[in-house]
Amino acid sequence: MKRKTLILGLLSILCAWPAAAQRPVYQDPSQPIEKRVDDALSRMTTAEKIGIIHAQSKFSSAGVPRLGLPELWMTDGPHGIRPEVLWDEWDQAGWSNDSCTAFPALTCLAATWNPEMSALYGRSIGEEALYRGKDVLLGPGVNIYRTPLNGRNFEYMGEDPYLASRMVVPYVKGVQQNGVAACVKHFALNNQEAFRHQYNARLDDRALYEIYLPAFRAAVVEGEAWSIMPAYNLYGREHLAESKRLLGDVLRDEWKFDGVTISDWGAVHSTRRTVTQGVDMEFGTATDGLSAGTKNAYDSYYLAQPYLKLINEGVFGTKELDEKARRVLRLMFRTALKPDKPMGSMNSPEHSKAAHDIAVQGIVLLKNDRAVLPIDLGKRPTILVVGENAIKMMTVGGGSSSLKARYEISPLDGLKARVGTRGTVNYVRGYVGDVGGSYNGVSSGQDLNESRTPEQLRTEAVEAAAKADYVVFVGGLNKSDHQDCEGADRLALGLPYGQDELIAALAKANPNLVVVNISGNAVAMPWVKEVPAIVQGWYLGSETGHALATVLTGDVDPSGRLPFTFPVSLNDVGAHRLGEYPGNAAQLEAMKQAGHQADTIDVRYNEGIFVGYRFADKERVAPLFPFGHGLTYTTFGYSKPTVDKAVMTADGTLDVSLTVTNTGKRAGEEVVQLYISDKKSSLPRPVKELKGFRKVRLAPGESKEVRFTVDREALSYFDDRAHQWVAEPGEFEALIGASATDIRGKVKFSLR
Ligand code: GLC
Repeated sequence: MKRKTLILGLLSILCAWPAAAQRPVYQDPSQPIEKRVDDALSRMTTAEKIGIIHAQSKFSSAGVPRLGLPELWMTDGPHGIRPEVLWDEWDQAGWSNDSCTAFPALTCLAATWNPEMSALYGRSIGEEALYRGKDVLLGPGVNIYRTPLNGRNFEYMGEDPYLASRMVVPYVKGVQQNGVAACVKHFALNNQEAFRHQYNARLDDRALYEIYLPAFRAAVVEGEAWSIMPAYNLYGREHLAESKRLLGDVLRDEWKFDGVTISDWGAVHSTRRTVTQGVDMEFGTATDGLSAGTKNAYDSYYLAQPYLKLINEGVFGTKELDEKARRVLRLMFRTALKPDKPMGSMNSPEHSKAAHDIAVQGIVLLKNDRAVLPIDLGKRPTILVVGENAIKMMTVGGGSSSLKARYEISPLDGLKARVGTRGTVNYVRGYVGDVGGSYNGVSSGQDLNESRTPEQLRTEAVEAAAKADYVVFVGGLNKSDHQDCEGADRLALGLPYGQDELIAALAKANPNLVVVNISGNAVAMPWVKEVPAIVQGWYLGSETGHALATVLTGDVDPSGRLPFTFPVSLNDVGAHRLGEYPGNAAQLEAMKQAGHQADTIDVRYNEGIFVGYRFADKERVAPLFPFGHGLTYTTFGYSKPTVDKAVMTADGTLDVSLTVTNTGKRAGEEVVQLYISDKKSSLPRPVKELKGFRKVRLAPGESKEVRFTVDREALSYFDDRAHQWVAEPGEFEALIGASATDIRGKVKFSLR
């Protein structure tokens, strides 16, 4: 019997042998990716290579049907998986199975100051992209917060390159562990929406390398991002989609990026420059010249037939095409053709919990005089909730990050659910902001229309406030034009819709007023002295109401810290006091006189490296609320920081240590921040720069040692004359703080 089995076994192998032997390398998942890429490329025709480097629909690129190579499917966005759109439309396709979990905006993620939350975020959103059959997630965005007026700051990770760098890497790795590519955007210098297709960012290499590139570099070099999306704007008078300096010299040569550059939608402007120094994949081009998104312009994309024609005419060989096609194939084998791909998941309880936990960890308690917060439910309070943002859906709108969320708990509903029978929660509108609620065919379903006048609404709110134990005003910005929205910037730092007057009136009517600011940007707060408790609420996604109620009632202590400075006025911002914004005044005037958009408008970043707290320190400007600021319901004590050596060598490291103690009566989380100050440098440097942070949870009375290891990179600045990073020997100081202005201890050391 055994002999017979053995013979049958051998026969089965021999029968299968020719098939296995004939199986092309590119179809063999056991083969290394680069071998599969080489083999696939060798089998493709020129036309097939052209076919995979440009869009075939609004959000997909073609595969090679003859070889079984799949299409690649892209999806927005950084906060959740966009609803399916029609083949060549921006509007949603009306599917009934594509609602998603709306995760908090990335400003909220940055405000957690917790890389573990980034990993959770990336993994969760990657699972939803995978389940929806997507290969590339068009996010995260990491453009630096240069001005509080930038409409898309809510999609990004704040003003500090070190914080953004630490927070973007786990997100990228989390997404890509699912076999879905992250597409880090918008590379680079997309720091405003005003004139986003025309403005030419002009800045020195110090600002470029020290402020605006680090988060992208971290995503590529540490996060190993598989794709990058160049920005719409220009740098060095070249559109970023065809920027030799940034896509070639920096991305490829300096950072050794082996992924794909994917154009923003409509960001490609030529064939020849794009072939020789531009993106690998072209999306969103309205090449018929009539209107964006017009039907089936794909064959006339710059990298489509026009490119093939130039090859056939001998203007180009296939060297550049092979490079682009090779990278797209590599992306295919990393994603769509990845062996043993995970399963993905959608709208799971785990994703709801992830959204909730990230939101809770990102909420920032800015002020809490008289310990108004947490709301004491033991006294069966009457809580009056005021404001449109307590009821308005915020996951719809704001541009390409808009979502069709499976659910979104409003602040009002979250508070009602949490308070239950332990109190009374009433609501008045207070003001009318944006009654709209639809984007690309997705509707919030809310009817926010209001017939009463602002005066009537304010009178009603003030009268009701006088009778309540607590007043929780929920206002701020929203996702409509000139608020927190893609394609246009805000027009002022102040709150819209008469909110300031209403808040001031509410403060007079009730001493227990809590203002919750829902926004992705800093806002002016002329009433800051009159309001005892202020919370920065962010766009918190599906779990908004539950997360806010959790923090406001003290179930969990607030532990968020600001990822950007709240200035008192725009004049306290480097971009506005020293730089140009939204562009060179003379050019703007000339454009106005000419009555049409200029091709290019210069924006000089004269403030250079002095962005955010770096500017505030330099100009000794007291912010409204500083970078890194955030209170808790407890208090923390810091021991004097010490160093393990007084002199650090260039190739060595130095440890900065301290003990943090919870000196209050409640558990809480503290974010210990390490800033480094170079006491004497050949080139101007900021007073201090964030070079470390640690979020530690402590029970009442508990102490923990926090240790930071400093290396020469943490001491270095970019010498743009020598084009290299330099750590100059001399005196340094480590500053330990609870924010950029709340420095709890300092310790000197020197670099030899
Ligand atoms: C938009 C955005 C980009 C988005 C893309 C696709 O214009 O700039 O962030 O991913 O187009 O919607």
